[in-house]
Amino acid sequence: MGLKEIITPLSYFEITHPEISSIRVYPSREETAQAVAQFIIDLVQNNPEAAITYATGNTMIPVYQRIAEAIKGGEVNFSQTKAFHLDEYYPCDPCESHSFVQYLNQYVFEPFQITEENRFIMNGLAADPQVEASRYNTLLKQQPIALAILGIGPGSHIAFNEQGTPFESETHLARLSQETITRDQVERGQETPEHALTQGINNILETEQILLVAYGAGKGEYLKPTLWGPIDSQVPASALRLKGEKVSLYIDNEAAQHLGNRA
Ligand code: GLP
Repeated sequence: MGLKEIITPLSYFEITHPEISSIRVYPSREETAQAVAQFIIDLVQNNPEAAITYATGNTMIPVYQRIAEAIKGGEVNFSQTKAFHLDEYYPCDPCESHSFVQYLNQYVFEPFQITEENRFIMNGLAADPQVEASRYNTLLKQQPIALAILGIGPGSHIAFNEQGTPFESETHLARLSQETITRDQVERGQETPEHALTQGINNILETEQILLVAYGAGKGEYLKPTLWGPIDSQVPASALRLKGEKVSLYIDNEAAQHLGNRA
């Protein structure tokens, strides 16, 4: 007789918020990532053809690795799901190490066995970025997106919607803030372009569910104005509170320590 794996539910505590339906705090980043992975696995088990928008970045790597393990173990099948980008640098060759196509190939498309026709890629080499943004926007409008998985970045940006981006924005070419460019150099050791194609804030708000994930003190600082400051385009992630009933925020305890008190 083999050993039976004992699965204990992950412990967390909830923060109540006037607009956001669920804010869960897990003791560590590993447990947060595991809970996020489980959220996405449950969604696909219930909706095997779900269209999902995937954030890139370091936050999501352990999440996607956990899902890949679940797929390998036969717990869930993502092969009928549709996978969408949140954003891509522009101009950007998919062979560049900072390309989000490359990231998605490595962490999502291949391990999740997503078929070629279900990989919806933003073309960082398109001759006209406005035409590419509009093509991608049309794709997003053609079907309901079941889930947008988001991280949060400098200036409380979501995707590459930097401070000042209107909440009604659709997929567009964005100019990156100096803070974001510096983050890429310092945290990722990358010289990235000054522009990016990005889903707009309205594309994100139109999805059926939104899952925002953050770990660590720095992310706590981005979340503080997001949760407790005014809902304002200077804090792009605060837009999520307009649709707070469909937003889940999963964070680790370290991020939670930096949220401060309600304003
Ligand atoms: C970038 C991306 C976002 C990502 C965020 C967080 O700016 N445009 O989509 O969610 O950074 O990245 P990380 O998880 O590496 O901190």
